[in-house]
Amino acid sequence: MIFVAGSANLDFVVRAPHIPAPGETVLGSDFKTFAGGKGANQAIAACRAGGVAVGMLLALGRDSFAEPVEASLNNAGVALQVVRVDDLPTGTAFICVSDDAENAITVAPGANLALRPEHLPDLQGIQYLLLQLETPLQTVAAYAAAARKSGVKVMLNAAPAQALPPSLLARVDVLVVNQAELATVSHCAGTVAQCLQNLPDVRCIVVTLGEKGCCARSDGQIILQTAFAIKPVDTTGAGDTFCGVLAASLAQQLPMPQAMARASAAAALACTRAGAQSSIPTKADVDSFLAEQPTEVAAIKPDNAELAAYAGFKQPTSKSNT
Ligand code: RIB
Repeated sequence: MIFVAGSANLDFVVRAPHIPAPGETVLGSDFKTFAGGKGANQAIAACRAGGVAVGMLLALGRDSFAEPVEASLNNAGVALQVVRVDDLPTGTAFICVSDDAENAITVAPGANLALRPEHLPDLQGIQYLLLQLETPLQTVAAYAAAARKSGVKVMLNAAPAQALPPSLLARVDVLVVNQAELATVSHCAGTVAQCLQNLPDVRCIVVTLGEKGCCARSDGQIILQTAFAIKPVDTTGAGDTFCGVLAASLAQQLPMPQAMARASAAAALACTRAGAQSSIPTKADVDSFLAEQPTEVAAIKPDNAELAAYAGFKQPTSKSNT
């Protein structure tokens, strides 16, 4: 079983020709609300990946925004433990998606800030505890410590980026970051390879690199996964899809390269649809997407030299699996 302890938001999304610069007003087009929040998105991604039960601890306000957020998680089959918060509204996110599929997100965390260390239930029977940084850092650190004590593996998606205490990093089994988050966590402005050197004690770090793909240092091995070619519509939730599917795949004992390949395929598919949870593919979607890939992409092939060079790895040491 995977257990997510984290955020849930209602996303207010507007499409616009481009993301406004500071001080600029842009005339947008479509406006929609979607269920979102990094924690909830990751829980649904893990659930849709199939083969593993998923539970989630979340905090919601007593307002009308809570209803669609809770309904989306229930409909996906996530077993919920909800902390009801009287004095804070349900978390919200204000998202502008540009016509070239990029986004800018501002989160008003609201009730997510009310998750406290004592809310974590007993972790018996759980394989991975999946955490993000949209809830208080002190709570995240306490949950990681509790998981470590119970022999539960911790996957931390360090998003939104913030510097992390070494004591928290020491309790993380799998750290998932994008390149900007890696720079913040490792206090490094260099290449991915250089930044990873600043985090020698984290056993496994997976770095998502957008349209370039992703890479990992796992038990000292470098793994490279090129991106799948897609036409992006909205990249919101792609990183969360990656995390949820990665956790579900690892919980089912898939080796890291295969788990990264499935997570990448799911994240690519998520970019072809609008919204966060609405864009997350099912296991069947991912299976048929992978089956449609040209043989030379689907088969294990030599390390991708371009990706290795981009990330600053001079001598890749393992096989990629695209
Ligand atoms: O990662 C995407 C998510 O970030 C959105 O759903 C939004 O709610 C913010 O948490």
